[in-house]
Amino acid sequence: MGEILKPLKGDFHLTDYQSVYETFNWKDVSLFNKQTVNAAYETIDRHVEEGYGEKIALHYVNQDKREDLTFKEVQRQVNHYVHILRSNGVKKGDRVFIFLPKNPACYIAILATIRIGAIAGPLFEGFMEEAIKERINDCKANVLITDQTLGERIKTENIPTVATILYQETIEKAPIVEDHYVEWMDPGEGMLIHYTSGSTGQPKGVLHAHRAVTHHAQSGKWVLDVHDEDVYWCTSHPGWVTGSVYGLFAPWLNRATIVIQGGRFNAKLWYQIIEDLGVSILYSAPTAFRYLMAEGDLYKQYDLSSLRHILSVGEPLNPEVIYWAHRALQLRIHDTWWMTETGGHIIVNLPSEPIKPGSMGRPFPGIEVGILDEEGNELPRGEIGQLAVKTTWPGLMKTIWNNDEKFRSYFPYKGWYISGDLATQDEDGYIFFQGRHDDMINSSGERIGPFEVESSLIEHPAVKEAGVIGKPDEIRGEIVKAFITLRSNVDETPELKESIRQHVKTRLAAHSAPREIEVINELPKTKISGKILRRELKQKEIERQAIDKS
Ligand code: WTA
Repeated sequence: MGEILKPLKGDFHLTDYQSVYETFNWKDVSLFNKQTVNAAYETIDRHVEEGYGEKIALHYVNQDKREDLTFKEVQRQVNHYVHILRSNGVKKGDRVFIFLPKNPACYIAILATIRIGAIAGPLFEGFMEEAIKERINDCKANVLITDQTLGERIKTENIPTVATILYQETIEKAPIVEDHYVEWMDPGEGMLIHYTSGSTGQPKGVLHAHRAVTHHAQSGKWVLDVHDEDVYWCTSHPGWVTGSVYGLFAPWLNRATIVIQGGRFNAKLWYQIIEDLGVSILYSAPTAFRYLMAEGDLYKQYDLSSLRHILSVGEPLNPEVIYWAHRALQLRIHDTWWMTETGGHIIVNLPSEPIKPGSMGRPFPGIEVGILDEEGNELPRGEIGQLAVKTTWPGLMKTIWNNDEKFRSYFPYKGWYISGDLATQDEDGYIFFQGRHDDMINSSGERIGPFEVESSLIEHPAVKEAGVIGKPDEIRGEIVKAFITLRSNVDETPELKESIRQHVKTRLAAHSAPREIEVINELPKTKISGKILRRELKQKEIERQAIDKS
């Protein structure tokens, strides 16, 4: 095992992991003890009431546009959205889907929905027609908030339960009417739904409850380590759980100033934003760090001295990347592990603690992690097994929308949540990722379900059957690769493959479209049920890659 990197110097919220880990109890957190709560109120309104209304809540940058809003201004806009939603009859328990680019309105619409007790369903801006339809219909959403551009991807006849579509442009043109209404909720009632992929079936709706803010706030304090003077930037879109929990809730619950960047990844632009806005904490994914590393000395052209802390999530973080950042930026990258379903950090690296490059870190205080065998027994340190979390903790999902059976499948052994990841834990308690237990694909930190891509592929008139895998890739971690068989009388041509790729890209999302398509005569299948053996496809692909490299 490699070198241990010493902790950063600084004024951190949590400086003694070991004793806090042994003594911390969620019941010590005041938010945990509330009889009624509202996540949106805690996130914005409370700060205004406590006298922080004039503090900058967000910097929005998009090409030449720059906008700064105070907490009071954010609250005013949330109030306006609350008015619009309520005058359209939205009430507690309704599902409001939000399909907007990464801009302040997206964050504001989520908060307004939650403040009136409805459930917010943020959708990633890269989703196309089929992906949106699938999610909205599964959830029987009542209302959709979108803008003119993204709205073009929606056909109203495909989403029959949506009674109202509200456009950002129209809402913004309407005279501001502030409605201060807050629906006080039982902490166990739903607030946020994120669709996420597994290896089987269509994406499932992971429902989070208001109580999750206890987890968001505490991990924001200890792991993001945000202080009042910080400028915090999480690069994820709120349609992904990282973008909502650690892009919106955790920093704002801790009253931080956040950065919202419209547009896509671009190394120069990212460095420029850090310099211009004085970003002090950056939270992103290994793929982005690998791109920055591939740009070599580019960082030297920028003043990045405001940065004091970097965090990573979503896919394995290579030790080389950590060493690069340590050398180049004189900062450590702190890996974190969690899932849409866990609702918040489970395994973390605190800025005040030593890190072991290659390890995801240690369990968050108040959360117990186990490595289990196939019978659900805890394995000794050093052995590889199923990464599991002892139930329960405040962020854990409330349920899977309309799919109780799926929800229960996460708890096959009494008292444990099973992640589907494989891992090992060393003598010091550090946990090392060892892969997935199932066929889920992780490309650039984005979780892609092979079933959803296969279903889309076989809708193409030329495709008979399809098996989709994650093929290891140096920059993106994995890329989506499809093996297909063609219908008779169809010839394999580059144009055909491109048309198949486009088919998935325009119906699901660009990140789901296979970067590689290979036509084969027959797909390997299980003898009894005839299920496609993705594992076999993947194994062969990895062997082939090894031969190509040697
Ligand atoms: C993977 C994202 C390695 C893992 C917050 C998990 C990771 C899935 C890490 C959840 C990490 C997440 N190292 N792999 N630090 N963090 N993963 O639901 O396989 O989009 O099960 O949540 O991403 O992805 P999800």
